Amino acid sequence: MKTFRRIGVLTSGGDAPGMNAAVRAVTRAALAKGVEVMGIYRGYSGLIDGDIKPLGLRDVSNIINHGGTFLYSDRCPEFKTEEGMQKAIATCAEFQIDGIVAIGGDGTFRGATDLTARGIPCIGLPGTIDNDITSTDATIGFDTAMNTVIEMVDRLRDTCESHARCNVVEVMGRGAGDIAVRTGIAAGATSVAIPEIPFDANAVIEKIKHGRAVGKRNFIVIVSEGMGADFSQNLAEQIEAQTGVETKFARLAHVVRGGNPNLRDRVMASRMGEFAVDRLIEGKSNLVICENGGEIVATDINFALILDRMYKGKLKDGDLAPYTPAQIEEMKLRCEKKRALIASLYETCNRLSL
Ligand code: ADP
Ligand code: F6P
Repeated sequence: MKTFRRIGVLTSGGDAPGMNAAVRAVTRAALAKGVEVMGIYRGYSGLIDGDIKPLGLRDVSNIINHGGTFLYSDRCPEFKTEEGMQKAIATCAEFQIDGIVAIGGDGTFRGATDLTARGIPCIGLPGTIDNDITSTDATIGFDTAMNTVIEMVDRLRDTCESHARCNVVEVMGRGAGDIAVRTGIAAGATSVAIPEIPFDANAVIEKIKHGRAVGKRNFIVIVSEGMGADFSQNLAEQIEAQTGVETKFARLAHVVRGGNPNLRDRVMASRMGEFAVDRLIEGKSNLVICENGGEIVATDINFALILDRMYKGKLKDGDLAPYTPAQIEEMKLRCEKKRALIASLYETCNRLSL
């Protein structure tokens, strides 16, 4: 078994509140086991360029409560090329990095699995506000981001109520409606629009007309960005034209990615970071750390990536070939479970509004 003397930690892809808490946990858990830690700056870009500094106990002081990532993040197309990958491997040799904890989303995990295949053991932590990693119930940053959405939407509702308006609010999530559907419930939205469920604009318009007729003054419609670039603005225009209710449009965008992580994200990031280090030191790699039913568990990265592709309907020829019928069945069940959860949340939102 490989002896770990020094590991690297990086944050990659879109930043997420709680990434700092995860870096702190990785650093302190490793140092406690006598393993040195190198902070790799700017995600895979820093791994290619050698933008790397040692992290001591005190270097991760006072960051658990901060949003963003003090290691900075980047999207690094060069890392997707064999040349970029080889540069990264050379950097690992130069800095004597024996293994890496990579915090990010599915793109980051694809990079991590490529590195593992080339002899650098990696473990991924799910750090993204989108909650679009099917193998985990929650990703680091998701809960904080939703709380930020709620705060913003509550403010919009105040002014909608004063002026008897509707507000269509677009929230991030890439292709996933996870943020939109939950914040829709919590904000008491009239409706939500998410890519996972066919959207019926006429039903929403009828609901708003009825609401106005019975004296309701404010209306909130939450739209996931996955509905498409102009969807929200067009919907706002359509609602105003067909209901007569003045309708504003707001895109919350990156506001939702910033801010201090909340308790849930800090705790989950800390537990996942510690768990990842323990697995790496045990000689395990090519794993993504997940939360399933409140428990922190490890899932094979390739299994997690294929599960994601199955859930998103993007399976490629041969993707399932390495898996046993029992594993494929498990993937199908997990996809069904997540679809059922999203459908049920969507129903709850619609049933409880108006
Ligand atoms: P996220 O990790 O949040 O999904 P990205 O999709 O931007 O964000 O991925 C983050 C980084 O991971 C990319 O900039 C790139 O360096 C690396 N990456 C993404 N896809 C791959 C891939 N197919 N192979 C190797 N590295 C990848
Ligand atoms: O993956 C996180 C995320 O914030 C998505 O919700 C969004 O689609 C994307 O990143 C935005 O990326 P960028 O920061 O590059 O604009």
